[in-house]
Parts: sequence; C-alpha cells; structure tokens
Amino acid sequence: MSGISLKGRNFLTLKDFTPEEIGYLLDLAASLKAKKKAGIPGTSLKGKNIALIFEKTSTRTRCAFTVGCKDEGGYPEYLGANDIQLGSKETIEDTARVLGRMFDGIEYRGFEHEKVEKLAEYAGVPVWNGLTDEYHPTQILADFLTLQEVFGHLKGLHLVFIGDGRNNMANSLMIGSGKMGLHITIIAPKQLWPKVDLVELCKGYAAESGGSVTITDEVEAVAGADAIYTDVWCSMGEEDKAAERIALLQDYQVNEELMKKSGKDSTIFMHCLPAVRGKEVTNEVIEGAKSVVFDEAENRLHTIKAVMVATLGEENE
Ligand code: CP
Ligand code: NVA
Repeated sequence: MSGISLKGRNFLTLKDFTPEEIGYLLDLAASLKAKKKAGIPGTSLKGKNIALIFEKTSTRTRCAFTVGCKDEGGYPEYLGANDIQLGSKETIEDTARVLGRMFDGIEYRGFEHEKVEKLAEYAGVPVWNGLTDEYHPTQILADFLTLQEVFGHLKGLHLVFIGDGRNNMANSLMIGSGKMGLHITIIAPKQLWPKVDLVELCKGYAAESGGSVTITDEVEAVAGADAIYTDVWCSMGEEDKAAERIALLQDYQVNEELMKKSGKDSTIFMHCLPAVRGKEVTNEVIEGAKSVVFDEAENRLHTIKAVMVATLGEENE
C-alpha cells in the first residue's frame, strides 16, 4: 500500500506512532470497511489466536476485537477480570510470558497504564491497549475515521472536547489531534485540566503538524467548532466521584444551547459511548441529526481490525 509496515508493533498509545503511520491505519481501516460492506471475507489473521483481557467492562471494544478477529479468520479468547490470575495470584510478567507462548496477540483493558506497558515488555507478541486510566488510543482511530468520512480530511478541523479534561479520552484526543494537525480545544473546569507535561508534549506535536492545543475553562471557546466531543463525567473506577463531578461539570453539559454556540450549522456531536443522558449530554443532542455516535461505534470495528491486521496480519489487506 504505502511502504509502511507496523508488523510486530505494540499499540499502547498514539504517542508511539508517526502521523504517516496513523494515516496508514486509517486508510487500512477504510479499505477493510469497504471490503466488509462488499461481503468479501478476510483471511489475514488465519491461524492467529488472540487473547482479550478485560479488567473493566466493555461493549464496543470487546465486540470490535472479537468480530474483527473472526472476520479476518482468527480466533479470539475472552479473558474477563475474574477468569485469570493476572495481578492477584500471578504477576503481570509471568502471565505475559505464558500468554505470549500461546497467543499471537494480546488486547488489554484495565486501570494503570503501566500494566499494559509491562504486559507488552514481557509478552513477546503485539499488545494492544483497549483502554487504560490514561489512554484510549483505539477509540481515537474510530473517531478520526468518522471525522474523515464527514469532512473528507482531518488537518485544520476544530475539535472541542468538553467535560472531564484529564480523562483517557481527553488525553488521547489531544495526542491524536496534535499528531494529525487538528486544532483541539479542551474545555473543562481548572480542577479537571490535563497534566501540564502532556499538554506541552501535544503542543510540540501540533507545532510540527500545523495544529494547535488550547486548554480553557470558558464554555464560549466552543465557537468555531467543527465537532463537539464529550465523555462521561466519571470514568470506570471513579464511580465514587459522581457528586463531586456533577457539581464541577454541570455547566459543561452538551445541550442544544451549547451546540448553537459553535456558530456553525455543520457542527457534529461526538461521544465514545457509553453515554449518560441528562449528565454530559442531553437526549436531544445525542439523538439529534448532528450526532455521529453510532458511526463512531461502528468504526471501532474497522479501526481495531486495522490495528490487528497491520501488526499481526499475514498481509496488510
Ligand atoms: N467506547 C468504548 O470503549 O466502549 P466500551 O467501553 O463499550 O468498549
Ligand atoms: N472515559 C471513559 C471511556 C469509556 C469508553 C472511561 O474510562 O470509563
């Protein structure tokens, strides 16, 4: 396709990928999507066994890895939080080496990002991050494929993330936007701003790509947005923070009034899902004509499949 090969690589955060490599994954995802729509079965994961470790719950990510793997002829094995010894009866290092002897690739969803890094260090096979407390990189590929489908390009788009500005989605959107030349604005109360060192890193990416990174607590900064993105106010593992977050974020809800503040009729609404209607977004907006949330959800399949095919597949298509 392009001379780019990601064979054997881990997929832990988009920090590890060049803009060309991210573009390559998006192109591959688009072509795998077209292939599936045309009813052409894939074979590039034939004979490959993949482990799906989920220490947190999942609908989209789990199903995308499962169906994506099966679509390309592989075998996926789901390993839930209570199914294996990881981290309780057995160290990550030992589990990684055992799974690496039996499986050709490992997906991991959990809490501390260091765990997926350790898994990758010891497994000896590609490890894919299916979400950690810090990052959610496969979601960004789906979101960017969706943006490309809607607008025809990524560079120069104005993306606003509003809500919990220090969660995995805000972090990963900022990294992806910096790499791919989008203008990203994170709107959040100061207590929920992303870490300064990550913001600086992403500003460095943006300086290279022609994008920009802005952090503010002003809701009015939504002006000019091509896409308004939000996520739950309490991520998995933070359920005890509900009252505190509602108090902090109630003025940051995406509702019709906020959508209008973009000043553009074309502004779309995005959410990684699952959503809490009535909290971070109103039912009216998420069900409205500008909402692309189910396109994003479908694109999880095509983009996650692209990650598996690119890093593990016999052929890249
Ligand atoms: N967006 C997302 O990761 O959804 P799940 O938690 O259902 O996998
Ligand atoms: N920030 C959310 C994303 C879910 C896909 C969480 O971590 O729960």
